[in-house]
Amino acid sequence: MSTDKAKLIYADQEIELPVYEGTAGDHAIDITSLYSKHGLITYDPSLGNTGICQSSITYIDGDKGVLRYRGVPIEQFDRPHPNFIEVAWMLIFGRLPNKDELELFSRTLTNHELLHEGIRSQFQFLPAKAPPMAILSSMISTMACYYDEFLSPDDEPVFLEGVSRLISKIRTIAAFTYRRAMGLPYIYPDPALPYCSNFLHMMFSLPYKQYEVKPEIAKALNLVLILHADHEQNCSTSAVRVVCSSRANLFASVSAGVNALWGPLHGGANVKVMEMLDAIYRGNRKPQECIEAAKDKTNPFRLFGFGHRVYRNYDPRAKILKKAYERVCQIQKISDPLLDIARELEEAALNDDYFIERKLYPNVDFYSGILLRAIGIPTNMFTVMFAIGRLPGWIAQWKEQHENPTAKIIRPRQLYIGNPETDYVEIADRE
Ligand code: ACO
Repeated sequence: MSTDKAKLIYADQEIELPVYEGTAGDHAIDITSLYSKHGLITYDPSLGNTGICQSSITYIDGDKGVLRYRGVPIEQFDRPHPNFIEVAWMLIFGRLPNKDELELFSRTLTNHELLHEGIRSQFQFLPAKAPPMAILSSMISTMACYYDEFLSPDDEPVFLEGVSRLISKIRTIAAFTYRRAMGLPYIYPDPALPYCSNFLHMMFSLPYKQYEVKPEIAKALNLVLILHADHEQNCSTSAVRVVCSSRANLFASVSAGVNALWGPLHGGANVKVMEMLDAIYRGNRKPQECIEAAKDKTNPFRLFGFGHRVYRNYDPRAKILKKAYERVCQIQKISDPLLDIARELEEAALNDDYFIERKLYPNVDFYSGILLRAIGIPTNMFTVMFAIGRLPGWIAQWKEQHENPTAKIIRPRQLYIGNPETDYVEIADRE
């Protein structure tokens, strides 16, 4: 913590405000007493410049394109055998797990991979073709009805049990959602398989034929999930924190996160990118037309997969995903015309003054979709894949918020611009 002070001069007042320093050298002015002492609020619509918490989970330097989980640069997870489960544990508990801890976590996940029959039967009350994100959020909310012992976990082993159920069952829910939409029988999880392979098995096996999970594909999926695992105070994570701040349980908070992620400006952008690339491929649109439409302020269209609230540089996740995708294509002997289109679009945008001036670069969603497609995941499941990946981050952020004894309910203020005091008028007297 810094001993620096900031000075704010307003009317005839000189107001001193404490300044804090983060471990990476960032500075933040503490304005919490501004209202109680001086009757002033700060105005920051969309919270673009407001720190809502102190956190030790994830660090981003948006200008340099740096992303670290618990201090570890994201590039270091692009290893020969990336392990999503290990990263999940690390994000939630603050350090890399030792061998015993990882084995216990892995065993606990396996023990909880089945859905409670009550939860499974809920699927039949939802339309098979319902949006997968709607199904996911409602199923996660439903979990609160079945696991009330985890609604207020009071020690770490209980918390780990609850968390394991969520991380394990989210992939079963996701796979069952897909199977039902396709009119295919559910494939139950195979306890012999690790996390990502088990998910692929539930997605693609047939009752009479086990899907053969290629190690490269499981590896690529592990990497995709790791790269999505946390991203500090983004829209969905803030939603999780806001709900948690009312002391709502983990299931309720994560379900809110799923809904926030669904939007096309956030996790839903991976679907929009694919639709855009597909439209170009089918000849319905030219790359330059997309660029022009994105620049046109009278057109709500955006170049999906481009731009970011925090990054003013290439999103480091997009760089890794692009390389991973090229590796998968080589191994799978895939030649995807959408990759050429994506490259062309990227080059055109990166050389266009509009994008240069605004420092708009590819974000994680630009290449995640085509990589997921190469893995075999259908487009309407892309945002669900993002949610599976982001779940450990939401849990870690929920835990941090929940365990902070000084945390208060998150309740922003507003600048009221409506009517001044106005009298109620009886209906007969209204114009
Ligand atoms: N296409 C065209 N113009 C863009 C784009 C884009 N993709 N992104 C930003 N801009 C423009 C804005 O119109 C604005 O222009 P202006 O200064 O002339 O008004 C300027 O760049 C700054 O952008 P903001 O909208 O202020 O940036 P903000 O931080 O609010 O939005 C966001 C970030 C939502 C990601 C935005 O860049 C966007 O809509 N991108 C496309 C959707 C997308 O890919 N979302 C995924 C983000 S990553 C994630 O959530 C996992």
